[in-house]
Amino acid sequence: MMLHIPQVLSPDQVAELRALIDSAEWVDGNATSGRQSALAKRNLQLAEGSDAARAAGARVLDALERTPMFVAAALPQTVFPPLFNRYGGGHGFGVHVDNAIRQTRDGRTRIRSDLSATLFLTDPEAYDGGELQVEDTFGVHSVKLPAGDMVLYPASSLHEVTPVTRGERVSSFFWIQSMVRSDERRALLFQMDVAIQQLAARVGAGEPELVSLTGSYHNLLRMWSEV
Ligand code: NI
Repeated sequence: MMLHIPQVLSPDQVAELRALIDSAEWVDGNATSGRQSALAKRNLQLAEGSDAARAAGARVLDALERTPMFVAAALPQTVFPPLFNRYGGGHGFGVHVDNAIRQTRDGRTRIRSDLSATLFLTDPEAYDGGELQVEDTFGVHSVKLPAGDMVLYPASSLHEVTPVTRGERVSSFFWIQSMVRSDERRALLFQMDVAIQQLAARVGAGEPELVSLTGSYHNLLRMWSEV
């Protein structure tokens, strides 16, 4: 399931984050790549584990916790510390699949990447190109979102970032290990959760049928989750 999550960060929060990272040290993006993706990748990345990356990453994690749609869709077990990248001057990232296992440099966090996320930190009008293109069984989806918005997609997907031909594209990207490993099951739970919330808003959460449906949601989650 691919999902657009709007307004994870407000315009003010985006501006603050950009001020924090724009003046920091950026290094060759291949610092975090696997061997195959290193061949395809041309971008810059905020030095992993630097003070700026840590402070900015903490802000992104805070924002995620306050975003119910993210929690409902990702059912996060562990979120990898957010990283930041910057594409300009023809930079792009050819078709690749993200590594299945991600580990931080200090070895403290190791996750299975079930979901990939890109949080856009530049408004689309400020650059040309730089579309995130994600392949699934329905074809290729092209994603370019307003600053502060995020896309969530299965980490198993082939994807690429097309070359940026004008301006610069700055984003945060990271991976999530979910409590529910299967994308299909997560999608089902998310659809059920959204329907229950909408129905509850209309008829009141205390209706017996809604209590029963909510119970079914939790019992499915109990059956499918690993925590
Ligand atoms: Ni990738």
